[in-house]
Amino acid sequence: MSITLPTFTPLEDSLFLTLYARARDYRRPHSILGDAAADQIVRTVDYDFGRLRIDTNLILNVALRAKKLDQVASDFLARHPDAVGIDLGAGLDTRATRLDPPSTVDWYDVDFPAVAAARERLIPQRANGHVIGADVREKDWLDGIPTGRPAVIVADGLMGFLTQDELVSLWNRLVDHVPSGEIVFNSYTRFAIWLARHAPGTKTVADLVKFPGMDDPREPERWNPRLQLVREITLSREPEIAEFPSGWRRYHRLAAHSTAWSRTGTVVLHYRF
Ligand SMILES: C[S@@+](CC[C@H](N)C(=O)[O-])C[C@H]1O[C@@H](n2cnc3c(N)ncnc32)[C@H](O)[C@@H]1O
Repeated sequence: MSITLPTFTPLEDSLFLTLYARARDYRRPHSILGDAAADQIVRTVDYDFGRLRIDTNLILNVALRAKKLDQVASDFLARHPDAVGIDLGAGLDTRATRLDPPSTVDWYDVDFPAVAAARERLIPQRANGHVIGADVREKDWLDGIPTGRPAVIVADGLMGFLTQDELVSLWNRLVDHVPSGEIVFNSYTRFAIWLARHAPGTKTVADLVKFPGMDDPREPERWNPRLQLVREITLSREPEIAEFPSGWRRYHRLAAHSTAWSRTGTVVLHYRF
C-alpha cells in the first residue's frame, strides 16, 4: 500500500535525499549499511525519488557516514545501558532499529512536527522509542528528555542547515541538560560546504545550507569547555572504502594520504563531555 504524505517544506523534504541514498545503498550488491528499513519506506511512500538525481558518490557517503555514527552510538550504548539516545533531525531514519538497543535505553527521534507525524505513520514505534516534533533551535523540546542519565547525541545531515550560532547554542543546551555523554555528527569543512552548494547530487538542498563550514575539528572545544574531541573520522581513511566501486575506491585511497584532501570529503566528528 502506498502512503501519500503531506507536502513538506524544502528543509523537511531534504530527508528524502538521505533516506533514498540509504535505500539505494541497500540495493547494491555489497551494501555498506544494510538498511532494509530505508528501502521498505522508499517503496511505501508515494514520492518522486527520481527527481532527486542522486549519484553513487552521495549514496556511498551517506551510507558510510550513517554507519560511523551508528558505531559510535552503539559503543556508547554498550557501555551505558541506562542511557538516553537522541537523534537530532532524524527525518525518516530508523537508527534505533539498526542499533537495536536494550529496552533500558530510551531513544528520542527529534524533527519538525510534520516529519514527526510522518514518522508515526510510517515507522512502527519501538519499546522506549519516542518521537519529538520540534524545531531543535527552540528550547522547550528538551523538557521531554530525562536529565539524570548519560546521553549519546547523533545528528546525521543536520549541521549544514543550522547557522554556527544555532549549532553552538544547541550543543550548549544539550551539554547542560545531561550529566555526561557523547555527541557525534557529520561535519563539513568550508570547502565541503562550497561543494554541497555546487555539486549536482546535492542541488535540491543547495539553497538551504546555512553553516559556513568548520576546518578545525577542535573548534567545538572552544564553543564549550566541556566538549572534548574523541576522534575525527575522515571517511576516505575508513576500511569500508575497500567495498566502494573501483573508481571511488582509488579516489579515496589517494585522498587518504593527505589530511587536507581527505577532509574535503565527508568527516564525522565525535566528542565527549
Ligand atoms: C538531510 S535530512 C537528514 C535526515 C536524517 N537524519 C537522515 O539521515 O535521513 C535533514 C533533517 O533535518 C531536519 N531539520 C533541519 N533543521 C531542523 C530543525 N531546526 N529542527 C528540527 N529538524 C530539523 C529536516 O527536517 C530533515 O529531516
